[in-house]
Amino acid sequence: MNNQTIPVITIDGPSGAGKGTIAQMLALDLKWNILDSGALYRTLAYFMLQQHIELKDFEENMLFIKNNFKVKFDPGTIGEPVKVIFNNDDITKKVRTEDIAKKTSDLATDPLIREFIRPCQRDFMVQPGLVADGRDMGTVIFNDAKLKIFLTASIEERAKRRQSQLKRQGSEVNMRLLLQELEERDKKDKERKHSPLKPADDSVIIDTSNIDPVGVIKAIKKFL
Ligand code: DC
Repeated sequence: MNNQTIPVITIDGPSGAGKGTIAQMLALDLKWNILDSGALYRTLAYFMLQQHIELKDFEENMLFIKNNFKVKFDPGTIGEPVKVIFNNDDITKKVRTEDIAKKTSDLATDPLIREFIRPCQRDFMVQPGLVADGRDMGTVIFNDAKLKIFLTASIEERAKRRQSQLKRQGSEVNMRLLLQELEERDKKDKERKHSPLKPADDSVIIDTSNIDPVGVIKAIKKFL
């Protein structure tokens, strides 16, 4: 089937803006597939770490990586993160550590890595539809998407959300440190040369600082 006919909704925005929650709720509600592109980058970082492949050696190992990089997503249940299945192993928790987040942030600035990940992302576009969550879903990967959403929230609110998420997982993190890490990640995402984080010209921008997830879903559904 021509995949131009497969509907795609893109959800982009900075870390902590609520993309994961909203993409998950939408995918479950519409019974569509989900692509957590951040988790795809994280899985690549995890795999390279596991295989002791450094970024500078990516090109010479590309075929091996391509043949062994089989990732699936399961939207799971609301309140739990989207499940990441890598080579039949549930690695959801393993890719959500701060250590992997830092490594991923470095990988994601590399043009070769982005070129490698691009077709992997397009492969998730299957019937009945796809909700794609990331930074460049609407601007680059699915620039032909039917509906493009860009979620934002103040940095303080995003840090608070991250802190409660970490608390639920049993870790205490200093707020100042979280704010500093978010600032650094935002800067990296926005200022990188390849696919910088920005809203697509034809996107709908929603500030989630003062709206709960149900309110955000309602706002999005008006555009469907
Ligand atoms: O959303 P996240 O924190 O899981 O993303 C992990 C990293 O991957 C983050 O540094 C941004 C990067 N990323 C990206 O460059 N492009 C995407 N489409 C998704 C994530």
